[in-house]
This record gives sequence, structure tokens and C-alpha cells, in this order.
Amino acid sequence: MRSPAEPVAFTLNGQAVEVRVPPSRRLSDVLRDDLGLTGTKIGCNAGDCGACTVLLDRRQACACLVPVGRLAGASITTVEGLARGGLDALQRAFLRHGAAQCGICTPGMLMAATDLLARNATPTEAQVHDALGGVLCRCTGYRKIIEAVLDVGSNASSPAPEAGAAVGARLPKVDGAAKLDGSERFGADALPDEAWLTLRVVRSPHPHARFTLGDFGPILAAHPGLVRVLTAADIPGRNLYGIYPTGKDQPVLADGLARHRGDPVCALVGDAETVAALRDDALPITWEVLTPVTFDTAATAPDDLHAHAPGNVLCRGRVVRGDVDAGLRAAAHAVITTETAFVEHAYIEPEAGYARRVGDRIEVVACTQTPYMDRDELALILGLHQDQVRVVPTAVGGGFGGKLDLSVQPLACVAAWLLRRPVRLVYTRPESMAATTKRHPARIRAEAAADTQGRLTALRFHGDFNTGAYASWGPTVANRVPVHASGPYCVPAVHATTTALHTNDPPAGAFRGFGVP
Ligand code: FES
Ligand code: FES
Repeated sequence: MRSPAEPVAFTLNGQAVEVRVPPSRRLSDVLRDDLGLTGTKIGCNAGDCGACTVLLDRRQACACLVPVGRLAGASITTVEGLARGGLDALQRAFLRHGAAQCGICTPGMLMAATDLLARNATPTEAQVHDALGGVLCRCTGYRKIIEAVLDVGSNASSPAPEAGAAVGARLPKVDGAAKLDGSERFGADALPDEAWLTLRVVRSPHPHARFTLGDFGPILAAHPGLVRVLTAADIPGRNLYGIYPTGKDQPVLADGLARHRGDPVCALVGDAETVAALRDDALPITWEVLTPVTFDTAATAPDDLHAHAPGNVLCRGRVVRGDVDAGLRAAAHAVITTETAFVEHAYIEPEAGYARRVGDRIEVVACTQTPYMDRDELALILGLHQDQVRVVPTAVGGGFGGKLDLSVQPLACVAAWLLRRPVRLVYTRPESMAATTKRHPARIRAEAAADTQGRLTALRFHGDFNTGAYASWGPTVANRVPVHASGPYCVPAVHATTTALHTNDPPAGAFRGFGVP
């Protein structure tokens, strides 16, 4: 049970403030939810990513780890407190060096660097590394950020290049200032005007299981803050979505069968405290755990994950040219086998957004890399015409292909459509990792021959790709890899094939190059 609210007075960006909240609340939540300062970001809520870094009594601190009860008499500075009548010298250096790319890590980077520069106006590169080491960036590779911190003192301006000299010149990002002063709106920063409901997804704890849902009536009666429990039967249109017109295989809510750990089985809609406090094991869900299909067993498993994918083969790719057998016989050759694992995109911004019903239209405001594809899929899920769906993309705090697929949008839209109230959904970090796509694990065998000049003469290649529970972008990966298997070389004889296999692992999808790396 939450502790009672207590008054806490502190200084925030130079102004005295008093909040009346439970003392155990995280400073990051109070800044964002109670004080409206959404410049402080939440990437993990666990002290790992540094996106929430603020100054606490002039030293950097993770706001997600600071209980507000500790703050009596303290001084807090957030990114909103840096720019006074224009960007400060550090923010201008970030702009000059292109150090804010997606921008989700930028507030944390600025606060950590501000702490350093206040104590040491001319740090060494090693000191910058040390000071910024607690803030993760998935976009920049850190170089531009480090260069910006080292260059604060120069205060150089960045004039537009002369006519004829623009190619190769560095220009300030057109949306750079908003990423630097904390005003940029990412998925979790955008809020509806009217009071909203919160949605929490209940997910399968098993990689492969049948399940039945019991009567939620007693739970609804016992928890007035719980407004509705959504199940597969509540999806107004088609309870399947996917990237390809002929490959829609992913349910918005699983219908009696969970195909990976993290598959959504129902959704709780209500006030934020109630849906967060309800334990999954208190819900009337009965599980029958099944043997999971793995990358090792996919080809021989007695059961297929999907009826349309016999042998658990989603698709095959093939590029063939010339006589590979002859080419390999005729020259010295080498065989390489390699295996890669799942890779998580680990964008700093977990998926987030809200939806609201506007008459006979639905409007969804969320982080996405593909607003038009989202619109088309949401229309099918809701049983609406495309003109009835409006997708408003927020800034994206890193995507790398992982936000090409739908995430929060379908359930937020279904709930808002049915309940006629705005509904908000923000993934936690563990949920983001469990529920969204990854880079395909691969098992690759390649055999290449070369002539005495070292020129490739023949290549035989086969790759198996673990596409997980649902198709997502698997066909693109399986079809693109054979095309690229021989690299940029003119190889007279090539036999390159791929197979994408379904397993009870998380769905694999797009990740910087659709399998080509
Ligand atoms: S360290 Fe606080 S949100 Fe990640
Ligand atoms: S700019 Fe650092 S995470 Fe995107």
C-alpha cells in the first residue's frame, strides 16, 4: 500500500517549490507527472541508463533512484533550468557538434556534463568519459557528445555555409534546440488534454502455453479503479496484424494460445495506481504449459506454430548464379560457420503513447517509425476506414528498426475506441524488451573459393534465421540476405539460400539493415 502524502519543500531550477506526495515517490515521476517537467526522461527506472540524470545539490544523480522524501531543503536542477533566455554555452556546443541525435539521452548528458564543467572548466577527454559514463546513448557513438563538452569554451558560432560550400558542411539540426532545452515531446511526454485512463498489458510468463480466462467480474467489483478488462473478444476488427498483406499473424491479444514469453493475453484499463497494483497471479488465468519450439527443434517439432507455416518455415530466400559445385572444386576454398544471438535494439525510449476517440475517428499519439503503415494496420484492427484513423507521431527516442512494428498503438486505440476516453500506455523497460522485436539470431555456413589472384570465384551460403513467434519483417530478412551474401563482389558462381524459422522466442524483425549485417 502506498504511504500517505507528505509535504516536501525544495528548490527546483532556482524556484522554491512544495509538493505533497508520498515520500517514496521517485523524483523522476514527480518532476514529470506532478510538476510537468518532462525534459527529464525515463529509460529504465533502475539507475542503469542515466536518461533521468538531474543535478541534486549541484551533483549529477539519477532522479529515478531518488525518493522525494529525501529532498527537503535540497536544490534540484533539470534540463529546463539550463537555458535562460536562449541555449547556454554547453547546449550551443551540442548543437554545433550534432551531439543530440534522437535526443532522448540529451537531457541526461547535459546534466552530467554541467556537473563536470562546474567543477572543471577545461576537462580532459578522460575526465569527460568519466563524468558522462553513467548516461547511455544508443545513437551517436558518443564522439560528438565528447567533442561538444570539450569544445564548450570555444563558443564558436555555426553560420550557414556559403553558397557552393554546403556539401559536407555541418549544419545545426532543424529540431536541435527542442532536443536541448527539454521541450521535445517523446511518446511518454505527450499527454491528452482530458483525464485519461491507463492501460497495463498482462503478458504470458510462458514461451508456449494454452490459457483460459475466467470471470473478471469479481476483480472489477473489488477494484473500483479498474474500468475494464480487454480480451481477444473485444477487438472490434481483425485480431491479427503484421507487416505484409499476406502475413498477418500477430494477435493484438492472444486468443487462448501464447506463442512467446511476453505475448499479451489481456489488458487492464483503469486508473494508474489500480492497474499497476493488480498482480498478474491474482487474475483468473489458467495456464497449460506446452513444450516450446526452439531454434534447435523448429524444423523437427511435431507441431507448427502457425497453420500457414508448415515445418515452422516462414519463408525461404534464394539467389543462384553459375555452377557453384564446379567453382568450389576448381579452386582453393575455405568454409566458415558462424552463429549469432538475439540482439535487442535497446533504444533509450521505451514505447509509449495514448489514443483518444474523436467522434467516429480514432487518434493515436505515439512514438513510431512508420505512421502510415500504423494507420493502415489500426484501421484493420478497429474495423474502420483508413480515413477514420489519425496517427500523430511524437519524436522517437531511438528506433533502429524496432519501432517499425506496432507496439502500444493497437491496445491504446481499442481501449479508447470502446471506452470513449483517452487511454495511455507506457511500456516499462522489461516489457519493451519482452514484447518487441529483436535482430534475428542466425546460423550461417559459407563456403568460398578464390583464384590465385585472391578473387572470389564461387560462394555457397546458407543461413537459418530464428524469426520467433511472428513474421514481422522476417520475409525481408530472409529475402535480402541471399542478395547481399556475396557482398559487393562480382562472383561468377553463387548459391545463396536462407530459411526463416518460427520458434517460441520473441518475434524478430527489422534491425539496422534487415539481416544484411
Ligand atoms: S537511470 Fe533513471 S531512468 Fe534509467
Ligand atoms: S541521441 Fe543519444 S540515445 Fe539517441
